[in-house]
Amino acid sequence: MEILIKLSVIALLCGTRVLCQYENYDYDTDYGPEPNVQYPPIHVPHNVDYSDPQIIYTNDCARECFCPPAPLLVMYCDNRKLKNIPQIPSRIQHLYLQFNDIEAVMMKSFINATSLKEINLSHNKIKSNKIEVGAFAKLRNLEQIFIDHNDLVEIPPDLPSSVERLNFAFNKIARLNDRDLQGLVKLTMLDLCNNHIDSVKSKTLNKLARLMQLNMCNNKLHSMPASLPTSLMYLSIENNSISNIPDDYFTKLPNLLAIRMSHNNLEEIPTKIFNLPNLVELNLGHNKLQQAFFIPRSLQHLYIQDNELESLNMTIMCPKIDHFNTNHLTYLRVDQNKLQAPISTLAYLCFPNMQRIYYGEQKYAEGEIPKVQEPMLTHPTVSEEEEEDEREGIADYRHEEYEIEDHFNDYYN
Ligand SMILES: *[C@@H]1O[C@H](CO)[C@@H](O)[C@H](O)[C@H]1NC(C)=O
Ligand SMILES: *[C@@H]1O[C@H](CO)[C@@H](O)[C@H](O)[C@H]1NC(C)=O
Ligand SMILES: *[C@@H]1O[C@H](CO)[C@@H](O)[C@H](O)[C@H]1NC(C)=O
Ligand SMILES: *[C@@H]1O[C@H](CO)[C@@H](O)[C@H](O)[C@H]1NC(C)=O
Repeated sequence: MEILIKLSVIALLCGTRVLCQYENYDYDTDYGPEPNVQYPPIHVPHNVDYSDPQIIYTNDCARECFCPPAPLLVMYCDNRKLKNIPQIPSRIQHLYLQFNDIEAVMMKSFINATSLKEINLSHNKIKSNKIEVGAFAKLRNLEQIFIDHNDLVEIPPDLPSSVERLNFAFNKIARLNDRDLQGLVKLTMLDLCNNHIDSVKSKTLNKLARLMQLNMCNNKLHSMPASLPTSLMYLSIENNSISNIPDDYFTKLPNLLAIRMSHNNLEEIPTKIFNLPNLVELNLGHNKLQQAFFIPRSLQHLYIQDNELESLNMTIMCPKIDHFNTNHLTYLRVDQNKLQAPISTLAYLCFPNMQRIYYGEQKYAEGEIPKVQEPMLTHPTVSEEEEEDEREGIADYRHEEYEIEDHFNDYYN
């Protein structure tokens, strides 16, 4: 009887073969329905005919840089071993200064550059104490600043209230001050991954009324960032040292679509903590969880590999089965836990949209003989790609782009 049920469930799953509608949440491009995020590609004209009288050249471009002819409003100064920010003509909107040796940002650097919308200072040597107070303040049109891979120890003060995207990843920022991000009411994306931040206090981020994406992966957080704005949709706090989540933590964050907090120290969490109406992706891999928790209806992808789970209690994960309002879960990864039994067949009634459960290998105490060898509906092996990404770290989250369709074909062929 048991076997018959299993077979029919598998047959059912084979029959559905729904293609994976997985959205690739790329941090920089596809993250959410943000207006004005897609900047049009800039075409640098090659083989320009310099004798063509139609092309208007302006001779205001800094000698060290390249400014394509008008109407383009771009100045390329990247990869030039520059030590200083060159003079910027007032018409320029996009400034590329990445991969140089710039240490300082002075008031005078941007004094005339009032049209600037975008500054890319990635991969330089900018130091916090060499950013003059107010250096960015007058740039009233500035929408994005990239200063990742520099030597900042704090967020530059006096950023203009027009900024929408800030990238400070890969610096040495250890502290966030309450005043740092004050007044940035248009900010939608803040990337602080790969810094040394150990806490976020309640007044730091709460006024960022349009913040949609907060990335704080690879920091030293010991607790959940406090008082996040209600607008938040993507929270990335992987690889910190967070050990618990307060009971009411997510009640003010109903817009969350994705929570990524693998590689933390979560041990016990409130059973209903993730009862969020819009949550699609939840990654809690590489923690120390011992208990299953409630799965919200909207959730599609759940990663709980490498925890201490001994069972997946369906009474907790799915207290009610509603055939008219089914759970959306399609992918579940549970390898490297301490599961003692195959996934209950009830799981497939609870989660009728399931396409793949990756059961993989489980951990056993030393000397103990593995109890279960034939988990139901598992994928034979992890693809090389998946394993590699696991090794490479998690900042990119590329292992989510697993090709579910291919795995399906392999398995059922
Ligand atoms: C700013 O513009 C003024 C007037 O065009 C010019 O004299 C000055 O050199 C410019 N300064 C910088 C730093 O570009
Ligand atoms: C800034 O430059 C870095 C390094 O070339 C690049 O990866 C990044 O996409 C650029 N950002 C923007 C917004 O142009
Ligand atoms: C599952 O959880 C429920 C509610 O907490 C509990 O009553 C039940 O004993 C658990 N079942 C198993 C098999 O652990
Ligand atoms: C976690 O972050 C630390 C730096 O804080 C880094 O050295 C380590 O490689 C990261 N681990 C993973 C799995 O990404």
